[in-house]
Amino acid sequence: MHVVVPELEQLAAQAEVCRDCRLCEERTTVVFGTGDPRADVMIVGEGPGREEDLQGIPFVGRSGKLLDQLLGEIGLERRDVYIANVVKCRPPGNRDPRPDEIDACKHYLREQIQIIDPTVVVTLGNFSTKLLLREQRGITKLRGVAYAWWKRVLVPTFHPAAALRGGQRVLEQMRDDMELIRQVVAGEVDPYAGSEEAGSEEAAEPEPVEHVPVEAEQASLF
Ligand code: URA
Repeated sequence: MHVVVPELEQLAAQAEVCRDCRLCEERTTVVFGTGDPRADVMIVGEGPGREEDLQGIPFVGRSGKLLDQLLGEIGLERRDVYIANVVKCRPPGNRDPRPDEIDACKHYLREQIQIIDPTVVVTLGNFSTKLLLREQRGITKLRGVAYAWWKRVLVPTFHPAAALRGGQRVLEQMRDDMELIRQVVAGEVDPYAGSEEAGSEEAAEPEPVEHVPVEAEQASLF
């Protein structure tokens, strides 16, 4: 059993009754997030699909099975990590979340990150990667690097749905990114050290900000 973190429970209770955007109208459940609230690794997807909407748990469909498998390959189980999404309610018909929906919902993710306080944040696909890195470039350009990000390390990779659609090449790149995650967790790669393994200059973007007061971080994180 995981520890209960009251702040996170309160935030989940708030999300459960959230009506801040149109996605509340067709949702079955709010998919807030699951896993170890004290996890070192937090995984951020896009938004719930049909299965997730029915069960209230992130990544339980086909993408989730692949995610579990890839995590397993680097010795991580689902219960070792925390998994959440950019939007907590299913976009109808699995369409992309819209900018105003992301804007309305992103404070939940921001607060989740601050409460869980992971050392490594793994973004899956374009939506979470672009949001957190404040980037216009897509995941194909951004993946493969461990970024110094608000005193944490952010590792972007493809969304597992892309591997399910895109076949072997995407899957192999995801495996490379998983290996990078393993190395970051093991302390073998540290973008703050500016070492060769960390991807040197590329890994230093965006600039790490030292000693950010909580309020400043809250305002600027993404
Ligand atoms: N895709 C996501 O981005 N998140 C889920 O929870 C399930 C599928």
